[in-house]
Amino acid sequence: MKKIALLGCGAIGTQIAMAVDSGKISAELTHVYDSDESKAEILTSKLKKKPIIVANPHLLSSNNVDIVVEAASQDAIKNHALSILQNKKDLMIMSAGALLDESVFDILFDACKEFKKNIYLPSGAIAGIDAIKSVKGELESVTLTTTKNPKSLAGAKFFIEKKIDSNSIKEKTTLFEGSAKEAVGLFPANINVAALLSLAGLGSTRTMVRIVADPLTDKNTHQITATGKSGKITISVENLPDPANPKTSRLAILSAIECLRTICTDDIIIGT
Ligand SMILES: NC(=O)c1ccc[n+]([C@@H]2O[C@H](COP(=O)([O-])OP(=O)(O)OC[C@H]3O[C@@H](n4cnc5c(N)ncnc54)[C@H](O)[C@@H]3O)[C@@H](O)[C@H]2O)c1
Repeated sequence: MKKIALLGCGAIGTQIAMAVDSGKISAELTHVYDSDESKAEILTSKLKKKPIIVANPHLLSSNNVDIVVEAASQDAIKNHALSILQNKKDLMIMSAGALLDESVFDILFDACKEFKKNIYLPSGAIAGIDAIKSVKGELESVTLTTTKNPKSLAGAKFFIEKKIDSNSIKEKTTLFEGSAKEAVGLFPANINVAALLSLAGLGSTRTMVRIVADPLTDKNTHQITATGKSGKITISVENLPDPANPKTSRLAILSAIECLRTICTDDIIIGT
C-alpha cells in the first residue's frame, strides 16, 4: 500500500485526506504539513487514522513515503518541488500555475528524468484534457472563457494592480483577455485551469483566456474551444464551488481524489 504525505491542509487537502481515511483511496496518509499549523491540526482531528504533523515541509519527503501531494500554493511548488523529487518521491501538483514559469518547469522536468520520478497533474476543474492532449500536435487555436462570481476571484493580484474593488462589480464584466501566461500571473489562485490547458495543448503564450466576473452566478463556468487539423472540440463545464473555499470547484477536488486513487490502485486505466 502506498504511503502519502500531504503538503497543504485546506479545502483540497482535507478532502483528499478524508478520501484516504475512508478507504476510497487505497493508501496510507502518514505525514502532513501546512504553514498554518492550526489547519493541519483541524485536518487530523477529522481523521480516524492520524498522520504525523511534521514541523517543516522537508520532513514530508525525507520520510518513508511514496508520493507527496501538494494542495497548497504556487510558492510551495517553487520552494519544495525539486527537493521532493531529489528525495526520490513522486509528486502530485494542484497548484499547476507554478509550472507556467519556464525555469520551474524545466528544472522539474529534468529532475523527473534524473531521479526517475513522476509529477502528476490532475485534470482539475475542467473536462477534456484527455482530448486536448491527444490532438496536441494538430492544434491551431485554444481559447478558454472562465466566468466566476467576483467573490470567487477576490484577492487576485489583478484587482490590486488595476485598483479595482471586486465588491464593486455589479454586472457581468469581462475583466481580462490575453494569454494564459498573463492570466495565471494576475489570477494565480483562480485560474489553474488555464495552466493545465496550456501544458496539455498549445503552451501558455498561444492559449487565449477571457475572465468574466458575474455577480449573478453561483457557479465557476469554463468554456473551451479548440480547433485544429483533427476538427473542433467544444467543452463547457459548470462547476459548483466548494463550500470551504469558493475559489476551488468541487470537480477539482474530485479530480484530485480520482487521480490519486488511480496512482494508488492496480487497475484498468480509463482515458488517455
Ligand atoms: N488544478 C486545479 O484545477 C485547481 C483547482 C483549485 C485549486 N487549485 C490550487 O490548489 C491549491 C490548494 O487549493 P485549496 O482550495 O485547497 O486552497 P486552500 O486555501 O483551501 O488551502 C491551501 C492550504 O495550503 C496552505 N499553504 C499555502 N501555502 C503554503 C506553503 N507554501 N507551505 C505549506 N502550506 C501552505 C494554506 O495555509 C492552506 O491551509 C491552490 O494553489 C489552488 O490554487 C488547483
